[in-house]
Amino acid sequence: MNAMVKAEAVHKSFGPLEVLKGIDLEVASGEVFCIVGPSGSGKSTFLRCINHLEKINAGRLYVDGTLVGYREHGNKLYELRDREVAAQRRDIGMVFQRFNLFPHMTAVENVMEAPVQVKGESKASAQERARTLLDRVGLVDKTDTYPTQLSGGQQQRVAIARALAMEPKLMLFDEPTSALDPELVGEVLDVMRDLAQDGMTMIVVTHEMGFAREVGDSLVFMDDGVVVESGNPRDVLSDPQHERTKSFLSKVL
Ligand SMILES: Nc1ncnc2c1ncn2[C@@H]1O[C@H](COP(=O)(O)OP(=O)(O)OP(=O)(O)O)[C@@H](O)[C@H]1O
Ligand SMILES: [Mg+2]
Repeated sequence: MNAMVKAEAVHKSFGPLEVLKGIDLEVASGEVFCIVGPSGSGKSTFLRCINHLEKINAGRLYVDGTLVGYREHGNKLYELRDREVAAQRRDIGMVFQRFNLFPHMTAVENVMEAPVQVKGESKASAQERARTLLDRVGLVDKTDTYPTQLSGGQQQRVAIARALAMEPKLMLFDEPTSALDPELVGEVLDVMRDLAQDGMTMIVVTHEMGFAREVGDSLVFMDDGVVVESGNPRDVLSDPQHERTKSFLSKVL
């Protein structure tokens, strides 16, 4: 089985604060991989390391077999140039808790921006694909609407379409529904479920245990910078083995 993401003893500190204390995990291609854990446990930091928005201090991170952010030569690591890092990042879509759409652009303009600016795709072709993607996330009637006129759930679906426009091989979701009103959560999870069914490899930091149980292929529980427990989401959620997992789940389930 080829791993889409492989983390080996990943360490990350901010000054004296050690946030990731040796993360080892593997995400298979096509897998929906859920990460849960208390606030401050390092979940977002780990996601940010995967697309090299944060530099790791030790260990190795691979995406699709390629070392993230570095070139290995002999036994030494050499940092990649900004341009090379940007090229790696292009293959990884990221959706955050807050929908950070460009406010001065309509939905379709948001979705076509990166393909045109970064990949040099023609406007006509990017626009056509953007419409197809907006259709896929259920927003074909909102193509010419500005973000301020969209609900949170609609904005988050545009954000997903925008990430998909770059044809990523991996999607990272950092609590994509936690800033939404409860009645809007479902529509975003539905889009993510569709994406999973299409075979997209996804790492999802979430508090939505129902989604993790139903859609997730694997789940890890992180606490204080380490993976405490991992396995099939249904097993981990219904029969946690570690005290820390039990205590966390008893608060969120
Ligand atoms: N740029 C930074 N500089 C200094 N400390 C940071 C930085 N980013 C994160 N941290 C610290 O690292 C720790 C882990 O933060 P992180 O955002 O990864 O947690 P999290 O698990 O995503 O939490 P939450 O569930 O609240 O989003 C926290 O103690 C946080 O304060
Ligand atoms: Mg976070």
